[in-house]
Amino acid sequence: MLQLFKQTQKSLFNIPLSNSLLQIKRFYDQKVIDHFENPRNVGTFDADELDIGTGLHGSLACGDVMKIQLKIDKEGIIEDAKFKTYGCGSAIASSSFLTEQIKGKHIEKALGINNKDIAKELNLPPQKFHCSLMAQQALKSAFLNWREKNQDHKCVSGNNTTSKKLRELAEEDKEQEEKN
Ligand code: FES
Repeated sequence: MLQLFKQTQKSLFNIPLSNSLLQIKRFYDQKVIDHFENPRNVGTFDADELDIGTGLHGSLACGDVMKIQLKIDKEGIIEDAKFKTYGCGSAIASSSFLTEQIKGKHIEKALGINNKDIAKELNLPPQKFHCSLMAQQALKSAFLNWREKNQDHKCVSGNNTTSKKLRELAEEDKEQEEKN
């Protein structure tokens, strides 16, 4: 399989594999390469479980898809997080980095991590910002899915900071859509 991939890559792009890998390594920051080669928290939870929130987000810019799942405890703490990403190295690194960052955090704090933080940490070039945005939006969708299943949780009901954070994120999304 690897051999087939190498042959296909060589014939499609007509460049020696060692050169193309070198170019990738020059283009991406070492942190992206590390997350791409050793992704953290890859996997899935049972989406039917009550304490699991599942978020799926696709990028209109490139057609890539990312799934983030959160396991949230009674206190609103993210006990565990998993992801599956069908996309570029930046998208894989963004989801791997984000799941690492949010584990053990209260959902309010986790929602405070935005795509600019991810892009800055991974040194993503501007043309790859949408990859980190996909991670932020998949996280938000996962939380919304969990919230739907846990309507009586204190993080859900009333005019609390989590709801405020979600309103801010919705406004940011709207601005982003208007720019595109
Ligand atoms: Fe599609 Fe990165 S190019 S998510």
